[in-house]
Amino acid sequence: MIQKIDNATVREAVQQAYERCKNETGGKNADYIPYLANVPSTLFGIAACLPDGEVIAVGDTDYKFGIESVSKVPTAILAMNQYSAQEVLTKIGADATGLPFNSIMAILLENDHPSTPLVNAGAISACSMVQPVGDSDGKWKAITGFIEGLAGSQVEVIDELYKSETATNFNNKSIAWLLKNYNRIYDDPDMALDIYTRQCSIGVTAKQLATMAATIANGGKNPVTKQQVFKPELSPKIASMMATVGFYEHTGDWLFTTGLPAKTGVGGGIMGVVPGVMGVAAFAPPLDEAGNSVKAQKALAYIAGHLNLNIF
Ligand code: DON
Repeated sequence: MIQKIDNATVREAVQQAYERCKNETGGKNADYIPYLANVPSTLFGIAACLPDGEVIAVGDTDYKFGIESVSKVPTAILAMNQYSAQEVLTKIGADATGLPFNSIMAILLENDHPSTPLVNAGAISACSMVQPVGDSDGKWKAITGFIEGLAGSQVEVIDELYKSETATNFNNKSIAWLLKNYNRIYDDPDMALDIYTRQCSIGVTAKQLATMAATIANGGKNPVTKQQVFKPELSPKIASMMATVGFYEHTGDWLFTTGLPAKTGVGGGIMGVVPGVMGVAAFAPPLDEAGNSVKAQKALAYIAGHLNLNIF
């Protein structure tokens, strides 16, 4: 069990991580989505949200960046909350793929199964499950309302990013229709894909990501607003999914190094969940070859090591 840590110690670790990592120059902005290529690559912020609701923040923590694949986490929880963890396991799965986030091969290798809601195939499938089925506006309200519950504040789509993603999401279109072929899409495939694309284009700040992570760490109760956002028993379920596949083909290396369940997005954000202790997030646009922020990984790895946040 990780011991509770006092706020001053976390504040100090976050500040130190920022100082140590701010001059890191590795990686490159995502460029397969034109909007992301143009986000200033020097942006860098770290935030942590603690059980008493204090949000510690250093650097560019109010900058709104694309949530991208981190959005797969709230939608997976929402689907489990609306149905059950077992139904999501049966309809989508909870397996690691060991393959890139947008892999079509993963669907074929898993014998037509989307693997996990935390890769593209499973995330599109999860969007198709979200209720009310058949109602795009209703689904969108459910997803954004849920993210706002986790973050404790409002979010909105970055329109330019949504347009940019929609104009370039050919691979995801193939995934949606391949899943339809295998009966793994539970609503209209084009609608599910559009909801997925839109949720990836939501703008969030590092402070919001840290609060989302803290809500997950805190058994579904937002430590800032005190709202119970989802069923407490789903916290270990989503943390296990994040631990299994949160960094795609680099997940094992990350978990071995830090022991911290976390989820990345190509917008440069990473959200880490320390069960029962806190949520932590970092943001910096340049990515490694698997699509994970280089600087945010370094910062979170430093904090995890320094504060002994290894869940194992
Ligand atoms: O599906 C896509 O290509 C993106 N909109 C999201 C991918 C992503 O963030 C992968 N994560 N590191």
